[in-house]
Amino acid sequence: MPTAHGNTADGNTADGFTGYGFTAYGGPETQRFLELPMPVPGPDELLVEVYAAGVNPVDWKVRAGLHRAFLHLDLPAVLGREAAGVVVGVGPGVDGFAVGDPVFGTSARGCGGYARFALLTASQTAHKPAAVSWTDAAVLPVAAGTAHDGLAQLAPGPGETLLILGIGGGVGAAAAQLARAAGVDVAGTAATAKREFVESLGATPVAYDGADLDEQLRTALPKGADTVFDLVGGDALRTVSSVLPPGGRILTVADPETAARFGARPLSRQSSTETLAELARRVAEGRLDPQVRDVFRFEDAGAALRAVESGHPWGKIALDMHVNH
Ligand SMILES: NC(=O)c1ccc[n+]([C@@H]2O[C@H](COP(=O)([O-])OP(=O)(O)OC[C@H]3O[C@@H](n4cnc5c(N)ncnc54)[C@H](OP(=O)(O)O)[C@@H]3O)[C@@H](O)[C@H]2O)c1
Repeated sequence: MPTAHGNTADGNTADGFTGYGFTAYGGPETQRFLELPMPVPGPDELLVEVYAAGVNPVDWKVRAGLHRAFLHLDLPAVLGREAAGVVVGVGPGVDGFAVGDPVFGTSARGCGGYARFALLTASQTAHKPAAVSWTDAAVLPVAAGTAHDGLAQLAPGPGETLLILGIGGGVGAAAAQLARAAGVDVAGTAATAKREFVESLGATPVAYDGADLDEQLRTALPKGADTVFDLVGGDALRTVSSVLPPGGRILTVADPETAARFGARPLSRQSSTETLAELARRVAEGRLDPQVRDVFRFEDAGAALRAVESGHPWGKIALDMHVNH
């Protein structure tokens, strides 16, 4: 059974390792560095020495217990849904990976990326190209993976207009670039301070924190939008109905309840090795920038999650464990 101790991030033995997690469902006060026994990879699992990990809103939502209905965890549990590192163990029956391979992928068993060692789901893990940094690779599965799946399900065509609600974060920044690469016109809502950032993604910025959003949308999109990718929900989602013509498509990852009132669909995640490999190829070739804007040391994992939990990060935030090697 893992044990919780104070707030240090050192301590790595052959039998155990340090992770950063939470001891009970609740607020940030439940977060701790933990000493854990080294896990044994099972079927469809890889044990990885973590070099970098992605930090996502889902991490604090898991800690807060918002996913308890469908994600069973034995507490204490390590935070983090994704990581990049070097394979040190291969589960029974897993093909295509060997000890020593640089990889990145989705945390197995629902969490565990903020740690010196982590289990990844092999069927949701890909080899890391040498040209892709550890931090860029680590943040691809959740944000760029969600962007990829969302665009596949919304299917905006070349010349159509896609409106992204919440374009300034990890999913939005990736979705904007993937859509632009497919010839889609992109607009996105973001704080006024992110105007240049949004433009650098090839998208038209729509400020949500100034004048009335409805008015801003009508001005920026006089012909409306063909599709909406919602990463915010609530009032923002209610407002977009004014720029969506009959037959316009909405997909949400943030607010299925509100979205259902507009006939909008929730996202269905389809993570796979093939998708991750394709995303990494785009990064290696300079066709996709995961927009890692802030990198924290493992020791500062709590601050990294706090930055995401604030609700207004720029692009992606990552943990870099490699700096300690
Ligand atoms: N269901 C799934 O599988 C799935 C997968 C990934 C993500 N998600 C969810 O999707 C949401 C976005 O994820 P993410 O990784 O992109 O989050 P993120 O990196 O934390 O970014 C969220 C962004 O939302 C923006 N924002 C906040 N309030 C806004 C508003 N009223 N209007 C427009 N933008 C606003 C913030 O930028 P500003 O500075 O512009 O405010 C921030 O950059 C989260 O709720 C996450 O949990 C779901």
